[in-house]
Amino acid sequence: LGCCIVLQEKIMHKTVLITGAARRIGKAIANHLAMKGWNVAIHFNNSADDAGKLADTLRESFPEQIFEIFGADLMKNGPTEELIPRVSAQMGPVSMLINNASVFEPNPLKDTTTEFLDRHMTVNFTAPFILIRDFAKQCSDGIIVNLIDTRITVSKSDFAAYTLAKKALWELTRMAAWEFGPTIRVNAIAPGLTLAPAEKDDSYLLNLARHIPMKRPGGVEPILKSLDYILENDYLTGQLLYCDGGENLGYT
Ligand SMILES: NC(=O)c1ccc[n+]([C@@H]2O[C@H](COP(=O)([O-])OP(=O)(O)OC[C@H]3O[C@@H](n4cnc5c(N)ncnc54)[C@H](OP(=O)(O)O)[C@@H]3O)[C@@H](O)[C@H]2O)c1
Repeated sequence: LGCCIVLQEKIMHKTVLITGAARRIGKAIANHLAMKGWNVAIHFNNSADDAGKLADTLRESFPEQIFEIFGADLMKNGPTEELIPRVSAQMGPVSMLINNASVFEPNPLKDTTTEFLDRHMTVNFTAPFILIRDFAKQCSDGIIVNLIDTRITVSKSDFAAYTLAKKALWELTRMAAWEFGPTIRVNAIAPGLTLAPAEKDDSYLLNLARHIPMKRPGGVEPILKSLDYILENDYLTGQLLYCDGGENLGYT
């Protein structure tokens, strides 16, 4: 009986599934939502060790909440389709879905092979599509947040496949908001200069930041504040919050 009461109390906390949550922005979101009382389903692909360490740290800091890790390669539709059922079987209904995982590789249109296009479209668009659809089927009162990119405002082709996929994800955000209201709100966050790609150092973002209105990279804080705003404003749906220091206005 004691064990059932403990489980009951843990289930009182709502569950969020965050894709690509083991590292970088996804990890910052996981830490932030754990602090706000959420149970967190930490999805990962290659970063099993980081995911496990994050779950252990969160369990220690927030013993009354549940933190579990779920591996799935979002390049494969089968494992993607199994993800929400796996999380809800282990943690109860999923109340919030954050589509954060992505691949971000440069190539202009003329160098974009169909394989390269497929990879970017599958991880950055098809996987969020599947998860959004399956989330809506199991949830009667929830929130979806899609991580997009300020690049969707322009037609620069240096990251052509990535940008096309994120443009499609923004349209999906609007369409899902239209179909799933009033019970599910669907919004997006568009980061700009946040964290340098793993292979670059801080000077990469500092140089680019000289050309945007705010003249500095944003880090993760603006994203977390936007997430809080989405959570608190229960009339907000189908919206995109830019966290880009004005980059969407154009480069100076
Ligand atoms: N960083 C920025 O400055 C910036 C700027 C604009 C927009 N954004 C957007 O913000 C979000 C987070 O950015 P980030 O830089 O933190 O992302 P990231 O480090 O590039 O990628 C996040 C995670 O995506 C997961 N992932 C990649 N391929 C996968 C696959 N096939 N299956 C499952 N998971 C896969 C990886 O998980 P594993 O490590 O477990 O393999 C990775 O850790 C992304 O949607 C990105 O487009 C970021």
